[in-house]
Amino acid sequence: MSALVRLEVEAGIGTIRIDRPPMNALNAEIQHAFVEVCREAAERADIAAVVVYGGEKVFAAGADVKEMATMSYTDMVEHSSLLQDFTRALARIPKPTVAAVTGYALGGGCEVALACDWRVCADDARLGQPEILLGIIPGAGGTQRLARLVGPAKAKDIVFSGRFVDAQEALAIGLVDRVVPAADVYSAARELVARYVGGPRFAVRAAKEAIDRGLEVDLETGLEIERQLFAGLFATKDQETGMRSFVEQGPGKATFE
Ligand code: HXC
Repeated sequence: MSALVRLEVEAGIGTIRIDRPPMNALNAEIQHAFVEVCREAAERADIAAVVVYGGEKVFAAGADVKEMATMSYTDMVEHSSLLQDFTRALARIPKPTVAAVTGYALGGGCEVALACDWRVCADDARLGQPEILLGIIPGAGGTQRLARLVGPAKAKDIVFSGRFVDAQEALAIGLVDRVVPAADVYSAARELVARYVGGPRFAVRAAKEAIDRGLEVDLETGLEIERQLFAGLFATKDQETGMRSFVEQGPGKATFE
């Protein structure tokens, strides 16, 4: 594991901590390590939910431009898969995930936040996809996930201009879900996912998969994905526990394993 990305676990919540001062620029070492850390967070039974955090000052100011500046087309043909793999690894963690955004979430940093289920940001945070100002476009999923989240017109405004979006605008357009004072970002993000610790994890996993896979396909295919996942839950303890508890004790009393 790289010292630049750590997985810290406390009270059922795994924190993926990006730690490369001053701006948490996401170099290739971080991108490789991120894939490993996401796999570990996905697999560990003592992790029910995940927070991605870059510390009190900055979430991440993007890919490491100084590293990328030396790359050729042939270098990038190989490297560009990793750019998508590391955000894909995060998006595919089958557990609730939230980005705790302080300072800047730019370029690849914004794309990391976009790969989470939710985003909590500081009232003085700035988000954006400034790649256009470097003569490139977002390469870690930004053109796709941003457009799905805020719609094509807003995504084009943000990606074509490269401008920074402040916290209030981000909230208004649905780019972030909660804005809190900077000092409270990490605790607010933990609070948002803490409710899933000790919950029906197989059902939550199925719900996330149904929604995320459904967004990538037509309605009928999405409904079929839902049907299969729904039926599959009848082979799990979550369904057995949840329904037996309802029948015997009434709603909302179930304790899941
Ligand atoms: C490498 C970076 C960096 C980056 C900042 N630094 N961002 N180094 N890659 N993305 C470095 C600066 O060069 C500087 O190093 C130090 O961090 C502090 O940055 P300053 O610019 O002096 O700080 P400030 O004036 O506060 O401005 C902060 C900032 C600005 C707004 C975040 O640095 C900025 O605009 N950064 C670039 C943002 C960007 O373009 N991101 C997209 C990258 S492309 P020295 O050595 O001078 O102290 C991308 C492609 C995605 O992400 C592909 C998939 C991952």
